[in-house]
Amino acid sequence: MLDVVRLKKHYRVAASALFGKRESRAVKAVEDISFAAREAEVLAIVGESGCGKSTLAKVLLGLETASEGLVVFDHEAIQNQPVESRAVKTIASIQMIFQNPFDTLNPSYSVGSQIVRTLERFRVGVNMSERRDIMLRLLDLVKLPRAFASRSPRQLSGGQKQRIGVARAFAGRPRVIIADEPMSALDVSVQAAISELLMSLQRESKTTMVFISHDLSVVRYLADRVAVMYLGHIVEMGATEQIFTPPFHPYTEALLSAIPIADARVKKRHVVLEGEIPSALSPPKGCPFQTRCGHKREVPGDLCEREMPPTRTVAEGHTILCHLPVETLKRMEPVFA
Ligand SMILES: Nc1ncnc2c1ncn2[C@@H]1O[C@H](COP(=O)(O)OP(=O)(O)OP(=O)(O)O)[C@@H](O)[C@H]1O
Ligand code: SF4
Ligand SMILES: [Mg+2]
Repeated sequence: MLDVVRLKKHYRVAASALFGKRESRAVKAVEDISFAAREAEVLAIVGESGCGKSTLAKVLLGLETASEGLVVFDHEAIQNQPVESRAVKTIASIQMIFQNPFDTLNPSYSVGSQIVRTLERFRVGVNMSERRDIMLRLLDLVKLPRAFASRSPRQLSGGQKQRIGVARAFAGRPRVIIADEPMSALDVSVQAAISELLMSLQRESKTTMVFISHDLSVVRYLADRVAVMYLGHIVEMGATEQIFTPPFHPYTEALLSAIPIADARVKKRHVVLEGEIPSALSPPKGCPFQTRCGHKREVPGDLCEREMPPTRTVAEGHTILCHLPVETLKRMEPVFA
């Protein structure tokens, strides 16, 4: 459905003037990302703050253009097409659900008129009255009363605004939806309802969903596959159950051990993740994870510090970016018992 091949996104930022010379440096937000999102699947992208998740989403949507690599949708390379120059069909086909529903609605127009405007933009419906009908059906779809059509966004709660965001994303019959932390700005009390709504719409419409989150426990129940990102790289990718059981990447192991578990019968191994994620302005040499990895000693010499590790296939559809041999990765202890 959506192919991403060796994608890079570097931002140029001004460095402080050195010796009177104006210089710029590169923020390596996305370094080398490849994946293929399949039809009707939920692909989760997880990783700590600053690892490049939103940058990846912006390139897919045309809000940023790529520095290198490819994004292929519908047999067309779109990585250099900013959203303004994309075909209407492409824009309607790849839609976004934003983290903060408060920013995406115009306070001066009614909710209904904004959905109708979206339908016009995506050329859905032949006339005004048909678009009004579709708008009302979209409200039904996201389980809001039809009377909400005449409300102003101000009169909506956070959860209700996010339902409108979902309605607008589904308005142009998208084939791919990119949801960037769609629940994290909402009250805990409404998060479950929104995630349930999103998942049921995804299943019914067979839309491909790229679900971005910093939290592995959230994606466990909704993703078919997971890509774990670290400092602009995918360090592990596989089916959801493969990500939660060994073999895993040393970074995934640490993320798993940080998941809070309420059930006292489940024993969890504690893995310490030292220090902060390095700056994307000056990523380390060699393996991106080498400054924090607890397994580095197991690799002979200083290979982790010198060379980018290979992508190892540990099982069908399951890959890990690490110098450790497959046999060693397979001997890793489970995090949960
Ligand atoms: N417009 C920009 N100009 C320069 N640097 C940027 C820009 N946008 C993002 N960055 C940098 O790129 C890196 C990746 O940022 P990004 O927003 O993609 O991370 P993220 O994984 O979405 O983080 P979070 O979980 O906090 O949302 C960060 O180091 C960030 O500071
Ligand atoms: S390559 Fe080395 S530093 Fe990187 S994750 Fe593997 S063991 Fe750790
Ligand atoms: Mg982000």
